[in-house]
Amino acid sequence: MALPEDARSRVETILAPLAEHRRTTFALRVARWWDDLVAGLAPYPDPLAVAARSLELAARAYLDRDEELHLLDERRSLEPDWFQRPGMVGYAGYAERLTPEGTLAALPGLADHLEGLGVGYLHLMPLLQPRPSPNDGGYAVADYRSVRTDLGTMDDLRDLTASLRTRGISLCLDLVLNHVAREHEWARAARAGDERYRRYFHIYPDREIPDAYERTLLEVFPDFAPGNFTWDEELRGWVWTTFNSYQWDLAWDNPDVFCELADVILYLANQGVEILRLDAIAFIWKRMGTQCQNQPEVHQLTQALRSLARITAPALIFKAEAIVGPNQVVHYLGRGRHHGKVSDLAYHNSLMVQIWSMLASGDARLSTHALGRFPVVPASTAWITYLRCHDDIGWAIDDDDARSVMVDGHGHRTFLSDYYAGDFDGSWSRGLVFQHNPATGDKRISGSAASLAGLERAVTSLDEAVGQDALEEAQADVDQAVARVLLGYAIVYGFGGIPVIWSGDEIATLNDQDWDAVPEHADDNRWVHRPRLDRDRLAHAGADPDSPEGRVLAGMRHLAAARSSLPHLHASVGAAVVAAPDPAVFVVVRRHPVGPMIGLYNLTGTGRSVPGWWVRELGLPLEQAVDALNGYPPSLQPDGSIYLSTYQPVWLVRG
Ligand code: GLC
Repeated sequence: MALPEDARSRVETILAPLAEHRRTTFALRVARWWDDLVAGLAPYPDPLAVAARSLELAARAYLDRDEELHLLDERRSLEPDWFQRPGMVGYAGYAERLTPEGTLAALPGLADHLEGLGVGYLHLMPLLQPRPSPNDGGYAVADYRSVRTDLGTMDDLRDLTASLRTRGISLCLDLVLNHVAREHEWARAARAGDERYRRYFHIYPDREIPDAYERTLLEVFPDFAPGNFTWDEELRGWVWTTFNSYQWDLAWDNPDVFCELADVILYLANQGVEILRLDAIAFIWKRMGTQCQNQPEVHQLTQALRSLARITAPALIFKAEAIVGPNQVVHYLGRGRHHGKVSDLAYHNSLMVQIWSMLASGDARLSTHALGRFPVVPASTAWITYLRCHDDIGWAIDDDDARSVMVDGHGHRTFLSDYYAGDFDGSWSRGLVFQHNPATGDKRISGSAASLAGLERAVTSLDEAVGQDALEEAQADVDQAVARVLLGYAIVYGFGGIPVIWSGDEIATLNDQDWDAVPEHADDNRWVHRPRLDRDRLAHAGADPDSPEGRVLAGMRHLAAARSSLPHLHASVGAAVVAAPDPAVFVVVRRHPVGPMIGLYNLTGTGRSVPGWWVRELGLPLEQAVDALNGYPPSLQPDGSIYLSTYQPVWLVRG
């Protein structure tokens, strides 16, 4: 479908002030991506008109893009795999909680710490101007074009992206696509009765349609925001609110909404943001009779947004935040006609859940089955792998997967909730129950990686231990907890994709006992695992390498260093999970042309072994094998099997 003549001439007028080579580049990119843009706009009655309108927005943003970012675009076009490389490690946290000053201007001061961890990607949690508290940790945005005043200004953000870039760090920001705050100017105009803006939201005069939708909708926050619609007196209507009552879902079936958000995306790209995390993207398209998640239109519209970004700012990539099942999540990385045309990154929520499941059960069978049936994703994309993030853990264990390995899905989910809440006999964990839903029995879990992995309980026992035996036992528990954190992260780093550290995990931060001291946080216990980066603990970790935090910090630095030298971990190479003869060992094989990388992970607190012949059958002759984590040949037993000590990870490659 050709670009209509009148649209072309409008774009040419906009770009007239630019040098000829810049205009040529724009024209070449339009020629390349125009069809994808139009195809992505198919959900609208007149796709061509929306494409032409949004292309004008793209041209204006291109005109505004500064020289340095134009160069970055060229560089990224020459190295499209920049985010897939084995050296890439991510880090995520709240801007105000990462430094003592708590401002954007102070963040470059963190660069040395990040560099030590190999970080090339920094995800700062929502920092655009939200409504006043409560604002769901910033996910209720009141203005996409200004920065939270306590953090700084848009100029500070631009300076920050430029300064991080000189340290090889790309900035990732949240873009909340599904909803805006009730205080956003669009919502205010709607409340004031402006028809144009009422059409930006899903508003119903009575319960008839909301009730019809509710029949198939789920509840995201059953505890503090039950239902999916909120009566608003000023609107004189029920407005769609999937999340909290003050987060109003946008009506993406209105092309005006598409153009507004497209413009925001390009604006943020021009501030030097390189990765946009598309928050709650699964929810943007509504369809009666469904859960209103993962609808095909979501992928079409993402393709359209992506095409506009590629035309204007190819250095920008998309990360889908879709916490959905395996068969759904792969669509966010592009399946079928969307292959390579939507998001470049997506969260591997299942891997995260399965790691915690394996640590609690000491058994890899369910996870090997569940991860084994993940469809292949495009070689140009990457998973975001992680052990913890700012959110709770929902036990996304599929009933069919469970049944396939003779496990009861509901029973296993209950076990995991109880285990991580510390309510299960023998549990080492100290998590908190988040959003117990009595209707479904779901109990999600909050808690820091170290507390969930047993360090909090172990350290408390160590403090209270009386007598040599008790001391030794508590010390052994501490060692095991440290080993669990590092095993979890070794799986995350050894799976392929971008491993992202949740701030504080690198120094084994425990649950924040004062999480509810901030009144607005008191009903949301996810704040238990969102503490300030503890400077004293960080200093102590450096000064005392034998302390738990010292061991974890050294371990994480080591994982990053080992990872960066392994071509096998380039994200274009797929990960295959394989069942080992011993179900207590989780196995990930990555088949690269230089040879396989075999990740062996002992999920238990006792020694385990894997037969040598079995490793050989995976394509790695034992006499050539080296453990990339320590540089030595694997430790062999007299019978030729490979020995794995307590919670030991091993990355076997050809030496
Ligand atoms: C995402 C965020 C979560 C937030 C929600 C609503 O799921 O990760 O923290 O509550 O979106 O914006």
